[in-house]
Amino acid sequence: MVKKNACVFISGQGSNLKNLIQRSRDNSFPIKIKLIISSDINANGIIYAKKNSIPYLIINTKLRNYENQILRNLNKHNISFICLAGYMKIISKFFIDKFRKNIINIHPSLLPKFKGLNTFSRVLKNNEIKTGCTVHYVNEKLDGGNIILQKSFYINPNDDEKKLKKKTQRLEQQIFPESIIKIFRYN
Ligand code: GRF
Repeated sequence: MVKKNACVFISGQGSNLKNLIQRSRDNSFPIKIKLIISSDINANGIIYAKKNSIPYLIINTKLRNYENQILRNLNKHNISFICLAGYMKIISKFFIDKFRKNIINIHPSLLPKFKGLNTFSRVLKNNEIKTGCTVHYVNEKLDGGNIILQKSFYINPNDDEKKLKKKTQRLEQQIFPESIIKIFRYN
């Protein structure tokens, strides 16, 4: 199988990145992670790039043309697929057009419910019965692209934000790789 060259964008903890790196060691997994991009110099996820000797780039998002810098690096590494894994920056239409249908994102709610930030507190405040996570294609609308996979669980009365986050992230570890397999299954 010819693997797609992929780049993972991060801004924080990197638990999804770590999982994708592990899964991509499998010969039958459709992508190879060739580059990691972080919008934060202090992102914990950078340690997984270092540990696994994967090239990484820390971008200064205060610079006006930082997306061009990203695009140059994606070209340099022949990247054809992008996974957003906790990347906290909005991506421009200009950028999305270059990779349309080849950028996916993971979000900690059952989209279309609870787009944006602070999902766990909003889920609790809204007395939801269930919550979960979603992998979707990225388009111009925040957390608005077509859904690839979603997994849910029932909320316990004693679940607080911390517990919801833990349960959600456990499911994220399943659906991110499964989504990638699903996307490339028939390609
Ligand atoms: C995940 O919960 C993801 O759904 C959201 O940001 C978080 C990133 O976590 N978009 P990590 O950096 O992969 O640990």
